[in-house]
Amino acid sequence: MTFKTKASALISKSFVAAGVSAVTVFATFPAQAAGGGPAIPRVEWSFDGPTGQFDRAQLQRGFQVYQNVCSACHGLSRLSWRNLVQPGGPEFPEEAVKALAKDWPNKITDGPNDAGEMFERDALLSDPILGPYKNEQAARAAQNGAYPPDLSLMARARNPEFKGSALAHGPHMMRDILTGYQAGGPDYLFALLTGYTDVPSYVREENGHLKPVGAEGAGGKAVEQCASVTPGEDGKPDVCNALADGMNYNAAFPGHQIAMPAILADGAVEYPKGPDGNPLVPATLDQHARDVSAFLAWAADPHLNQRKATGWQALLFLLVTTVLLFLGKKRIWSRIEH
Ligand code: HEC
Repeated sequence: MTFKTKASALISKSFVAAGVSAVTVFATFPAQAAGGGPAIPRVEWSFDGPTGQFDRAQLQRGFQVYQNVCSACHGLSRLSWRNLVQPGGPEFPEEAVKALAKDWPNKITDGPNDAGEMFERDALLSDPILGPYKNEQAARAAQNGAYPPDLSLMARARNPEFKGSALAHGPHMMRDILTGYQAGGPDYLFALLTGYTDVPSYVREENGHLKPVGAEGAGGKAVEQCASVTPGEDGKPDVCNALADGMNYNAAFPGHQIAMPAILADGAVEYPKGPDGNPLVPATLDQHARDVSAFLAWAADPHLNQRKATGWQALLFLLVTTVLLFLGKKRIWSRIEH
């Protein structure tokens, strides 16, 4: 009896402790949400959810976008050329990838040779997909001080923050776990690539606050163009952060000022044509951004297709095992007299 009470006291104590820590965790969310970037809308992907898989044709188009546009500044160095041939990815024919690797402008530094010198050679299937710069310093020197990061793991490295009330965060997280939501990275990439717009205009109100100019117009007042607005503290006027030189306004990028130019546009890449001579999918900015984001999602998680298939097989196996164990148990214990 005493043991039972002690145990239940212990259990209720741990519940209280868990509750307190949960409250502490939840209480920290608003602070986090305030510091981050803007809300990122969710996109529908073929690889969503527990059964979703990458769409091979989309990965092929996505690589095409990377090759024609992004590779001018970004590397993909954690991916080898042979990965483009492997099952579960774009699955290009091996010969085509070999030829592409050979012609890739960013050569592989190899060596030393017999004379002790390093030398450059064409890429082989086993080599990484290199960007144009040998190192970060070279990249910054060429890009006005900005560093175009390697894109191999970008779809994993970025994840939009939850924007909403602290109380809604728990249920939201639960829903994401149950629906197998993992597409935060590609959602952000899509929003980033389609997020280049004009710098928003604001008018200053009597009390010093900056108000976005809506459809009704500025009403003859002076307009300020602000990449972002820092709210004035203690009754001070809001601060308008103008777009810095060489920066571009992007609605999805935290702080809204990005060194990467608006490089993707309608028709930036020529897509494969169908038998009737028309492209199978429209070569629009939206479609290019979707395809390259899906491709980068694959680059960061190349075994997704196989992992999901194996997961379902494992579940089926466990189900069969459960039935067998249950039948076995019934049979063994049926010999015991009641
Ligand atoms: C002209 C060079 C150039 C091209 C082409 C280019 N980028 Fe960038 N990219 C940059 C630079 C520079 C940065 C760093 C931006 C910064 O830190 O402000 C960057 C940053 C990024 C980032 C990181 C954003 C973040 O959240 O930190 C992503 C993702 C990205 N680029 C994706 C792409 C994709 C996808 C393409 C092809 C459609 C592409 N870029 C084409 C120059 C380029």
